[in-house]
Amino acid sequence: MDRQTEILAPDDAGFARAAELLTAGAQVAFPTETVYGLGADARNGTAVAGIYAAKGRPAFNPLIVHLAEAAQAQTFVQWTDAAEALAGAFWPGALTLVLPLKDGHGLSSLVTAGLQTVGLRVPDHASARRLLATFGGPVAAPSANPSGRISPTRADHVSAGLEGRIAAVLDGGPCPVGLESTIIGLAGPDPVLLRAGGIPAEAIEAALGRPLVPPTDSAINAPGQMVSQYAPRAPITLNVTRPAPDTLYLGFGPGPCDLNLSSAGDLREAAANLFAHLHQLDAENRPIAVAPIPMKGLGIAINDRLRRAAAPR
Ligand code: TXA
Ligand code: MG
Repeated sequence: MDRQTEILAPDDAGFARAAELLTAGAQVAFPTETVYGLGADARNGTAVAGIYAAKGRPAFNPLIVHLAEAAQAQTFVQWTDAAEALAGAFWPGALTLVLPLKDGHGLSSLVTAGLQTVGLRVPDHASARRLLATFGGPVAAPSANPSGRISPTRADHVSAGLEGRIAAVLDGGPCPVGLESTIIGLAGPDPVLLRAGGIPAEAIEAALGRPLVPPTDSAINAPGQMVSQYAPRAPITLNVTRPAPDTLYLGFGPGPCDLNLSSAGDLREAAANLFAHLHQLDAENRPIAVAPIPMKGLGIAINDRLRRAAAPR
């Protein structure tokens, strides 16, 4: 596709147009509480192929399917007690559940990348839910950034990466959580933490009443968990307490820096700022140094994203 991307307001006309475009098989970016997603009808293979084309994404990477209501999940997957417990505790919210596909699910095999499972999520964002309800069907949506680059938490981040490559962006303002969903695998005997994210693993373990296990074969379980991701153009160095004079310093907690994730040292605020701050520093295209972030609660997901941003490309 190569025409101007429509910017839609979150009003009656905007939701109607966004749903109409999805029905027509087009790709529409929309806000969720985590990051902006690039959505398409999950039952329409051509529409889903358009997501991969716009992002330049490797086609073996499965996509999360977004639903307006938790009750829709059982149309697509084999539901379990653990799924019921987690959906009850965290949906709508920043949690993706990977479950075995049900016969006759109707989802495009491009969404599942040929796996026997699918990741489902009910987002907790008024604009996302209104769009999903207006459209009425399952919407496949990865983060709305070119493959490997920083995730978008504002509509202008989406435009900067995908302008002219997608039909529209629904502008719902900044994403409040700022980190992608936590992904839990429920297709085997033990619940698996496939990706740390917006809901801390400890909260999920408390709701399940049992510990999460690490993935045994990450290549099969989460093929999208590429090592280099979220990369700014210039090199990025982590856990820096004394930045070199020529670097841009991304701080955490009190003290001098170029930009602070949270001067109060609050991990929730840091998560919400992470990608917007990386976009802002990336615009200067100079080496970036990042202050240490504690490895607890949301800090685990923040450090995961930073490690990928700093990984060899
Ligand atoms: O918060 C989020 O999850 C955002 C918003 C838009 O909902 N979406 C998102 O999607 O982060 P994406 O495509 O950037 O990341 C999805 C991750 C990938 O690492 C992918 O491999 C994994 O989910 N995934 C999807 N389906 C899976 C499955 N059946 N089994 C294992 N991993 C799966
Ligand atoms: Mg992504």
